This record gives sequence, structure tokens and C-alpha cells, in this order.
Amino acid sequence: MDQASGLQRMLSAMVDRPAPATPTPTAHQASSLLSAAPASRRHCRAIAVAGGKGGVGKSTVAVNLGMSLSIAGHDVMLLDADMGLANVDVMLGLTPSRHIGHLLDGHCTLEELLLPAPRGLQVVPAGSGARRLAQLDNGEHAAIIRAFDELARPPEYLLVDTAAGLSDNVTMFAAATSEVILVVCDEPASLTDAYGLTKVLSRDFGVRRIRMVANMVRNEGDARALHQKLARVSDRFLDVVIDFSGWVPHDERLRQAIRRQSAVVDLWPSSHSALAFKKLAATVDRWADPECAGLDRIAFFGDRTAPARGMPR
Ligand SMILES: Nc1ncnc2c1ncn2[C@@H]1O[C@H](COP(=O)(O)OP(=O)(O)OP(=O)(O)O)[C@@H](O)[C@H]1O
Ligand SMILES: [Mg+2]
Repeated sequence: MDQASGLQRMLSAMVDRPAPATPTPTAHQASSLLSAAPASRRHCRAIAVAGGKGGVGKSTVAVNLGMSLSIAGHDVMLLDADMGLANVDVMLGLTPSRHIGHLLDGHCTLEELLLPAPRGLQVVPAGSGARRLAQLDNGEHAAIIRAFDELARPPEYLLVDTAAGLSDNVTMFAAATSEVILVVCDEPASLTDAYGLTKVLSRDFGVRRIRMVANMVRNEGDARALHQKLARVSDRFLDVVIDFSGWVPHDERLRQAIRRQSAVVDLWPSSHSALAFKKLAATVDRWADPECAGLDRIAFFGDRTAPARGMPR
């Protein structure tokens, strides 16, 4: 059966089946567990927030997870990698005077681009309405990624908010991070697009683990059911593990916060969604340090975490 066309039929057929037992950890997962470092460690971890489909909450998760990590005391940068259609700055009420295009043109350094956001978060803004940024070539993607290696003071966490779709702007940035968070909501198109992105990242970029976050769901049961739908299909067809990493409820407070150009974790820290982001941040901070050595691709902080890299496969 063709994977993409058969997916939707399989997904609906799977809804009522019992959940499978927790998979046996692979050797890779086991060694990750063994190498888990204490919470006080200083690392440079890049995490892409992706999803395939538009409007599933990628930017919302990137902004609120980033700010939650920052509130928890970590140094956090948020790169708006939705090049040409930037909206992180709008979501946070920031007014950037420069964007990533100025960095590429050599008109400023990455440090000069950094925009302070509430609660200590630092934002690297993408340009909005700049067609050129939506069509970057691989050399330009690599230049942006490498610019982070030159930071005198690298962050503990770099969150990368990616665009919708499967363009190079998405895959290049996602493949250059050590972790990919896949934001999925309970809609068939979200599941099929998430599967499509997982397929490309695993098949073409050697990504072996994806962290799924269910967004706009009612409860944990619905979130886990969504994860099962995706994981069962990818277990069958793809060489990648999709972990369940958390869920964010549908929350009117979150929408109100967006309308007020604020992060809900800043404006209403006791709201349901803010508490979910706090929990997600704690989960993320417990992830074992990434195993980057030996990857033959360009990576954020590659010089700090891996000995040698080339161009993507
Ligand atoms: N947990 C939630 N509860 C309620 N509304 C939500 C939630 N998450 C996201 N939204 C709503 O969904 C809209 C789209 O979210 P967001 O912009 O984060 O999606 P996106 O995946 O980044 O979209 P794009 O692909 O266009 O960049 C937001 O404006 C917000 O109103
Ligand atoms: Mg977005």
C-alpha cells in the first residue's frame, strides 16, 4: 500500500484498537539513558518545533516552551525560522529593526539581531514579507546554522520555530537540531502532514527520534490516542521512534494571550495551557544530552557537540 494514500484509512481503523506495550528501548535509547546528565549541566541544545501542517500551534509551542524554560532559569534563544512569514515577533509584541536577512548580507552579527523578549527569552527574528528569505539556498541555511557556533555566549537551549510544509526551510533547520518536537492536533490533515514530515526527516536526514506534543486536545487520554495513531503507522513503515512528550489543552486563555501579543505563560501562569507548558519544559529539561558525534550533517552548535560534519545526506 502506498504510505501516504493508505495512512488515513489506517488511522481510522486504528482508533479503537488497544495501545501496544511500551516498546523495548533500542541500544541507542539505552545509551542515551545511561549518558543522562544532571539537571545542572551546561549544554547547548537545539530543538526544532515542527509539525508539517500550518496552524497546528508550532509557534505557540515554541514561544511558550521557550519562555517556560527561561522562567525555569535557563538561557534560551528562539530562532524564528519561518523565513519570510515571521510571526514570533508579532506574537510577543516585539518590533525588530533587523532580521536574519541582514545577518546573511553581513550587515550585522547574530548578537546584534538578538531581541529581548519578556522573562529573559531572546528572539532571533525572521523577516516578514521578504520573498528572498522564503527561498534560501542550502548555503544560506548553513550560514545561519553556523552563525550560532560563533556566539561568544551560547544559550543552553535554542528553540527553532519552523514553517509549515516540507520545504528546505523546514527540513534543513529541523535536521540541524538535536531534537525535533512534532506538534500534532486531532485533525486528519495534521496527522498526515506530521507523518509526511517524519518520513522525510527519517528517510532523507537520518533522524531517528521525534518527540510528539499533542496540541489543542481535551485531555491526556485524547493526547495519547493521537500519539498511538501516529506511532503505529510510523513503527510500521519508518525507521524512527516517535516518543510521546506531552500535551497542551485547547485553552481560550491562550488565544486571548495571543491577541494581547503575549505568551500565556507570562500573562496567565496559572492557566491550563501555561501549566502544561511548564510541565513540558520540565520534561524537555530531563532529556538526555544529545548524541551528535558522527552525524554527517550541519548542526546547530556542531562545533561544540560533534567532531566533524559535512553537508546533509
Ligand atoms: N492550545 C491551544 N489552545 C487554543 N488555541 C490555540 C492553541 N494552540 C494554538 N492555538 C491557536 O491556533 C492558532 C495558530 O497557532 P500557531 O500560529 O502557533 O500555529 P503554527 O503551527 O505556528 O502556524 P503556521 O504554520 O501558520 O506558522 C493561534 O493563533 C492560536 O489562536
Ligand atoms: Mg508558526
